[in-house]
Order: sequence, then C-alpha cells, then structure tokens
Amino acid sequence: MKKYELLEFPQLGDKRGHLVVAEGNKDIPFDIKRIFYIYGSDKDVVRGQHANKLSEFVLINLCGSCDIFIDDGENQETIILDKPHQGIYLDKLVWKNMFNFSKDSILLVLSNEYYNGKEYIRDYEEFKKITREKK
Ligand code: TYD
Repeated sequence: MKKYELLEFPQLGDKRGHLVVAEGNKDIPFDIKRIFYIYGSDKDVVRGQHANKLSEFVLINLCGSCDIFIDDGENQETIILDKPHQGIYLDKLVWKNMFNFSKDSILLVLSNEYYNGKEYIRDYEEFKKITREKK
C-alpha cells in the first residue's frame, strides 16, 4: 500500500474569487501542530532530502509549481504540485525531495508534529535500510 496520497480540497470560490478549505482531521488526515512554507528557492535547488520517523506532512503548492520525488520504501514517484486546491499527504518514513521550483512557488507544509531534528533521517541509505527491515 502506498504511504502517500494526493488530496483534493473543497473549492468554495465564487465570482469574488477562489477559496479553498482544508480542516484538520477531515481534509488533512491528522491534527495540525505545525505549518511552515518555502519560497524563493531557485530552480536548481533540491530541498527536503529526508524522511521522518514521527512527522507526517501535507504539502500544498499555493502559488506557481514545484516537483516532489517520493520514495515510500516500495514505490517511487515524482509528482508535480501546481494546483492550490491539491495537496500531497506523506506518511511517516517517506523520503521526499522537492525541486524544480518556479520563481513564484510558495510551498505550504502542514505537519502533525512540532519540529524535532532528531526524528529526521537525512541519509538515503539509512532510510532504505529501515524500510527494508520494516517489510
Ligand atoms: P530543512 O529541514 O533543511 O528544510 P527543507 O526540508 O525544506 O530542505 O530546514 C532548514 C532549517 O530550518 C534547519 O536548520 C532546521 C530548521 N527548521 C526548523 O527549525 N523548524 C521546522 O519546522 C523546519 C521545517 C525547519
């Protein structure tokens, strides 16, 4: 089973403009404890490059576009994030690289955990070893 999923959020816009809603424990499959956002990254920058032991994430590209490479230990996929009403859910122990940022990209990230650098796995080989052992 895939440990990631594309999410489609309700669009409640009208003639005044767009409005997208994402509620914790409903559209977002966890209690939201942390948000952060990434912008101003050059096209050739690769961000992320880690997996997490505890944190789950939903990534939403609010403006512009970026690509995300995902490896959940079994499946590898690159997904283009370019719609503000779509998000990608990443479970624990999912490797992600974010790259190919457009100049205007604003990537919003929601998480179920506060930041704790100790739960980050930043070595791809270590990640592969952990996911192999979990099988
Ligand atoms: P980093 O994890 O390298 O960002 P990305 O995954 O987007 O490439 O984080 C950059 C710095 O910011 C690093 O020193 C850790 C810090 N940081 C926090 O303090 N809190 C957070 O929630 C995040 C995501 C990062």
